[in-house]
Amino acid sequence: MTRVPRKFYEALAIGAPRPLREPPARVERMIHFVPPHIDKLRAKIGALAAQVDVVLGNLEDAIPIEAKVAAREGFVAMARATDFGSTGLWARVNALNSPWFLDDMTRLVGEVGDKLDVVMLPKVEGPWDIAFIDQYLALLEARHGLKEPILVHAILETAEGVNNVEAIAAASPRMHGMSLGPADLAASRAMKTTRVGGGHPDYRVLADANQAGGPRASAQQDLWHYTIARMVDACAANGIKPFYGPFGDFADAAACEAQFRNAFLMGCVGAWTLHPSQIAIAKKVFSPDPAEVAFAKRILEAMPDGAGAVMIDGKMQDDATWKQAKVIIDLARQVAAKDPALAERYAL
Ligand code: GLV
Ligand code: MG
Repeated sequence: MTRVPRKFYEALAIGAPRPLREPPARVERMIHFVPPHIDKLRAKIGALAAQVDVVLGNLEDAIPIEAKVAAREGFVAMARATDFGSTGLWARVNALNSPWFLDDMTRLVGEVGDKLDVVMLPKVEGPWDIAFIDQYLALLEARHGLKEPILVHAILETAEGVNNVEAIAAASPRMHGMSLGPADLAASRAMKTTRVGGGHPDYRVLADANQAGGPRASAQQDLWHYTIARMVDACAANGIKPFYGPFGDFADAAACEAQFRNAFLMGCVGAWTLHPSQIAIAKKVFSPDPAEVAFAKRILEAMPDGAGAVMIDGKMQDDATWKQAKVIIDLARQVAAKDPALAERYAL
């Protein structure tokens, strides 16, 4: 259940900014995770911010319990000390039922709410979780006189959350998007894995036995295909953005790239980067390939009004391929505006 249409875009607290009608058009190829309690990493945030699209201060899982308060205060210090320019600043707060959530929200919004673009909320189970944080943020925004609404990004990482993915995506105009959280989701579903994202060597399809008794072909399948597909549809239908989440095997760049690329091809716009080596992977994968951009440009040029049918290199193009080409060109333009090296290669 959501509000009646007329009320959907009203502020939820007196004095809070109105929700945005359209989410801001930002390039968010990688959400780079930083543990804000570690002083030596915090000192490098300025340089890091110039290399990534989003810096996220992580307060939730992976932060030791005894460092929860230091991480929160480290986030405040880092937000105050850094000029993020066009780079996004996000925080992953602790879950709604944790002992840290209340103070995470009051400290962050109270101290640096004007710099905080997005709150990433873990373990979202249904639209009621979004309704709660929506109302709570509105009250905090009003109290602190914020002019821009802070957006909410949900992590899809429980079985119940996946069941409710469409309702979560539609729950509020504050919704920025969603990320797959494969580690918690695996646990929640009782999947028999011990990994953070990626495939599993035992999840495969075996070809039928052949009469000659020769070796049977077998191929590893993607454990995350179903969830990503549901997430992409829920997000696209609601005009918000889907992301692949974390890939935990930092030494396996090829597997990381393959997972990110599958997600990109299926409609995701970015992924988390937990290790500096993953930044270049995400940048490469989530920026459209210059050869694809060149082909898309030929389609648009061959069909100036976006209708009819033409052949290009023996392949049929029509109104629908024109729309696909437009998705790629629109993304390339956004990326080009941010990335001069790619702008040159795209030549748009
Ligand atoms: C991320 O939070 C995950 O659980 O994979
Ligand atoms: Mg998680």
